[in-house]
Amino acid sequence: MERALALAWRGWGRVAPNPMVGAVLLRDGAVVGEGWHEEFGQEHAETIALRVAGDRARGATAVVTLEPCSHAGHQPPCVEALINAGIARVVAAMPDPNPIAAGGAGRLAAAGVEVALGIGEAEARAQNAAFLHRYARPERPFVALKLATSLDLGIADRSGHSRWISGADAREYVHWLRAGFDAIGVGGHTARHDDASLTVRGSVEPRRPPTRVLFSRHGEIPTSLSAVRTAGEIPTVLVTSATGPSGRQASLDEAGVTVRRVTGLAEGLQALRQLGIESLLVEGGGRLAGALLAEGLVDRYYWIQSPVWLGEDAVPAINGLPGRTLAEGDRWCVVERRALGQDTLLVLDREPCSPDL
Ligand SMILES: NC(=O)c1ccc[n+]([C@@H]2O[C@H](COP(=O)([O-])OP(=O)(O)OC[C@H]3O[C@@H](n4cnc5c(N)ncnc54)[C@H](OP(=O)(O)O)[C@@H]3O)[C@@H](O)[C@H]2O)c1
Repeated sequence: MERALALAWRGWGRVAPNPMVGAVLLRDGAVVGEGWHEEFGQEHAETIALRVAGDRARGATAVVTLEPCSHAGHQPPCVEALINAGIARVVAAMPDPNPIAAGGAGRLAAAGVEVALGIGEAEARAQNAAFLHRYARPERPFVALKLATSLDLGIADRSGHSRWISGADAREYVHWLRAGFDAIGVGGHTARHDDASLTVRGSVEPRRPPTRVLFSRHGEIPTSLSAVRTAGEIPTVLVTSATGPSGRQASLDEAGVTVRRVTGLAEGLQALRQLGIESLLVEGGGRLAGALLAEGLVDRYYWIQSPVWLGEDAVPAINGLPGRTLAEGDRWCVVERRALGQDTLLVLDREPCSPDL
């Protein structure tokens, strides 16, 4: 299953809104075929692995990160392909939450295939968290927060400079991360101060470039900003309040910026979902991060901790999150922890930890 999960990651940035899926076929303890879902709408992991295995698939075990689909969508049902190839056993990490595609395990069992579901489920669920979110909370996108902080939890020095707190490896990781999200968001202050292009410039070229989302209650977004100037090439959305943007509407329209007027962040996220955005990576700053956390609107936190001290007057990483007692504080689940050069990455989910993590 570890190998199947590693293969599934190769679909990052290319398969959404489909899930990433990996498959490994084993016979007599040897790998006879493997595959992964490479491109949205194209062949599924199971059928690629079956093709690689050919006749060696007869009597083999298929290890898959998601319950094989039982419906004909862009591709024929995988359960039929597995049954026709003579697969004896299917080990799948998690059930398919999609009501249209679900039921694969039952169909396989009915055809005499031995089925084991739930092996490596926690890792598989963490890997496809945005896909699962669509079925659990369809009213808003999956929201991940990403911040690079100093050891003392600053995101910028006292002059507001944040380039660069983290090192080259971490910045490369962030470009990889961006490729897997439908949209990248920042707060109004960060948008104005950093004027970042918020584009993907890493090893993975996303199937669709992520939409840029600027959260500004006042709507004071200068048209000189990179994300506004290039809105004709890569979509840019301004999420603002009912009264914003004062006097800037015409120039934003002309630049091709989509404006959504909302009463608060929750409604803003719903508006993004209505625009087709299913996953949003919020890259700060601290006030937007604090406001989203305070409203319980963050599902995952990518925390890059860098070995630098910024001391007093640094811009705080999380601003405005009401205090809680230790007993009241939410305890999140660590789903990944690793080094990025001299920096440390910690990925945490709001969901309570599954027993096998
Ligand atoms: N190290 C990092 O990872 C990182 C990442 C991002 C930013 N930064 C740095 O962080 C600094 C900016 O951070 P910041 O905390 O001052 O500002 P921020 O969070 O980027 O922006 C705050 C602004 O977000 C808008 N907003 C929209 N809805 C909001 C809500 N419900 N609650 C609060 N704000 C809302 C408001 O914009 P309006 O004022 O326009 O209405 C508000 O002023 C910059 O120096 C930047 O370089 C560092």
